[in-house]
Amino acid sequence: MAAAPSSMHPAVAQSASAETFIELRGIHKHFGNQEVLCGIDLKLYHGETLCVIGPSGEGKTVMIKHIIGLIQPDEGDIFVAGMHVNRLHEREMAPIRQKVSMLFQGAALFDRMTVEENVAFPLLESGVCDRNEIKQRVLEALTAVDLDDHLDKYPTSLSGGMRKRAGIARAIVARSECILYDEPNSGLDPIGSDIIDQMILRMQRRYGVTSIIVTHDMRSVFKIANRVAMLYRGKIHFLGTPAELEASPDPIVQDFINGHSNITG
Ligand SMILES: Nc1ncnc2c1ncn2[C@@H]1O[C@H](COP(=O)(O)OP(=O)(O)O)[C@@H](O)[C@H]1O
Ligand SMILES: [Mg+2]
Repeated sequence: MAAAPSSMHPAVAQSASAETFIELRGIHKHFGNQEVLCGIDLKLYHGETLCVIGPSGEGKTVMIKHIIGLIQPDEGDIFVAGMHVNRLHEREMAPIRQKVSMLFQGAALFDRMTVEENVAFPLLESGVCDRNEIKQRVLEALTAVDLDDHLDKYPTSLSGGMRKRAGIARAIVARSECILYDEPNSGLDPIGSDIIDQMILRMQRRYGVTSIIVTHDMRSVFKIANRVAMLYRGKIHFLGTPAELEASPDPIVQDFINGHSNITG
């Protein structure tokens, strides 16, 4: 492997190693006649938190779905921990999905299962069968998101913020090294949003988790990101630290961040 790239920023170096964990190289993706991703190059370092911003419909969700093989690129390559994701067959994806969990937009809990059953689901799927181990890991994940008093509740009786936290518990229960969060703060008030941000920070500091967070919430970006990538017109239009983002003279960047800083005032 090449040495740490000279473009590495101090913020990354502080909280992350220089080792590349995820790499997207020259990713192109179209649907019908719509070019969604037009050559995405992006590296994510071990232990860092990268926020992905950009207007709606620009391909943020499509981009992160490539990482766990839910979408195949037309062109380009994806590497996770040295594994060449887009060369793997669906049945060979298990090691990738163990390393990388995704919190889908809207959390997508099963309404007919209790919180405890929802969180246990990925463990059962990955073949853990020891009941005590399952119980203990579910409790640990729910404690991390302050939901350990709500094991027997059904998702429909939880608030939006609690449902998101249950979704996060489900994403962390497998003890993945990396978590992809798709708009974890959307629809939450500033307090609910802050609870999620604190949790993301805790996962990084306590467990060294590497994360990508797709978000529109600029307050959250400035709180949690080591680096920020802005997706615009199918490309990474900006990549840098939050301070560099704020200082960027680029009018597209400024319009975007100003438009999204005022929303939750
Ligand atoms: N499976 C799909 N089939 C067709 N079009 C899709 C599919 N997934 C996403 N798209 C389109 O790709 C574009 C980018 O979508 P998305 O990644 O969800 O945007 P966002 O940046 O808001 O997350 C949108 O125009 C969307 O309609
Ligand atoms: Mg999206």
